[in-house]
Amino acid sequence: MGAWVVYMPARLWYSWHHHPGEEMYLILAGQAEFLRKGHAPETLCEGDTVQHESNQPHAAETHDSPLMAYVVWRNGFRTKPVLTPPEMLS
Ligand SMILES: [Fe+2]
Repeated sequence: MGAWVVYMPARLWYSWHHHPGEEMYLILAGQAEFLRKGHAPETLCEGDTVQHESNQPHAAETHDSPLMAYVVWRNGFRTKPVLTPPEMLS
């Protein structure tokens, strides 16, 4: 298991990617739009959480506000994320 704090500046596009590690974001401040394959986009704010299953493609985008989040990974921690090719998103 690993955990860290992430800061995303305003107007950041965090590209579609996936990884074996299961991932959970707890939003500490700000807001961002989170995208997960198989789900409608969600705008998350302070106190909200989102979970990414193992190898589930996901992305995030900040708009006018930056975002700070506490991120926890479980399993697959030693395998780095890879960008998700467009054919995996349809
Ligand atoms: Fe991720």
